[in-house]
Amino acid sequence: MMTDRPPILVVALAEGDDPGIWIEAFRARLPGFKIMSLSENPEAERVRYVASWRHPPGSLTRFDQLAALFSLGAGVDHLLADKDLPAGVPIVRVVDPDLTNRMSEWVMLHVLLHHRQQRLYDYQQFEKIWADDIRQPAAKDVRIGIMGLGVLGQDAAHKLKMMGFDVAGWSRTPKALPGIETFAGETSLGDFLGRTHILVSLLPLTPATKGILDAGLFRQLARDGHCGPILLNAGRGGLQNEADIVAALENGILRAATLDVFEQEPLPKHSELWHHPALTITPHNAAISAPEAIADFIADQIEAAEQGGKLDHVVDRSTQY
Ligand SMILES: NC(=O)c1ccc[n+]([C@@H]2O[C@H](COP(=O)([O-])OP(=O)(O)OC[C@H]3O[C@@H](n4cnc5c(N)ncnc54)[C@H](OP(=O)(O)O)[C@@H]3O)[C@@H](O)[C@H]2O)c1
Repeated sequence: MMTDRPPILVVALAEGDDPGIWIEAFRARLPGFKIMSLSENPEAERVRYVASWRHPPGSLTRFDQLAALFSLGAGVDHLLADKDLPAGVPIVRVVDPDLTNRMSEWVMLHVLLHHRQQRLYDYQQFEKIWADDIRQPAAKDVRIGIMGLGVLGQDAAHKLKMMGFDVAGWSRTPKALPGIETFAGETSLGDFLGRTHILVSLLPLTPATKGILDAGLFRQLARDGHCGPILLNAGRGGLQNEADIVAALENGILRAATLDVFEQEPLPKHSELWHHPALTITPHNAAISAPEAIADFIADQIEAAEQGGKLDHVVDRSTQY
């Protein structure tokens, strides 16, 4: 039952994470709401919205008056991993131009790092080697394949296309994008991989995509180019088989890789990935937008919903993204 006291937005983070910055950002944007953290034990019947990043599973069950559940990021795998999530409540993910831009920056940086062989030049600089005769293919001769043609994949595809690369994309359902070859569904995956020199994974983690980046997939990548096969993964660590990545780098099935996400995060100190010379690692920060930008997006949605409007970017619980 609702009371006449202000409704509550709960910030629900993993145990030990400090919610302070989020609480401040939401307070600035939603003066009509009481903003509380999960640990403050909010009164369940006043909680209308939850904004979560890796909340402890089972910790939201008592909120039975929820109008929506927000992910504090673009992915919702962390939310859906909670088998006791309140049923029937819309789950909304973040779509924010700032986050999208940052991801495209990361994709372009690492495509160019491999395409322009920057790791080799780093080595040459370190060793004071002046070798200016290294062959450099033109961007138009490098075929890039983007797995996941959603908000992030499409933006990266357009920007890579503008740089002159030969870009294709793969998604679950068919897409038509000007100047970009598109493939859809499992039956077209082989054709998509067979034309790809640099594979960029921007997929969500779902039961259908878990472990998709494995040895069998790497073997299908194109080997006819000067640059590749190369793997970039900024989707989720659960998409990749790390033992297969190391083996593929050792036996030449992959030439190099950049990983932003890992099966276990933080990447354990003992992981062999840290030292592999053909691997570039970033600490799951390919696209982290400012809390204020995310709070703005969520506050806009809450304000619209409170006035009877509809929520945007609601996740389909059946496909899990
Ligand atoms: N590393 C980071 O810092 C960071 C930051 C933000 C996000 N991410 C990750 O990036 C992911 C993508 O974000 P987004 O906003 O682009 O998501 P999105 O808009 O939902 O796009 C997901 C794309 O993946 C495709 N897809 C899903 N399941 C598939 C399957 N089984 N087979 C083929 N294609 C499939 C979808 O196909 P359809 O188009 O047919 O639906 C869609 O094109 C997030 O889920 C998150 O895991 C990482």
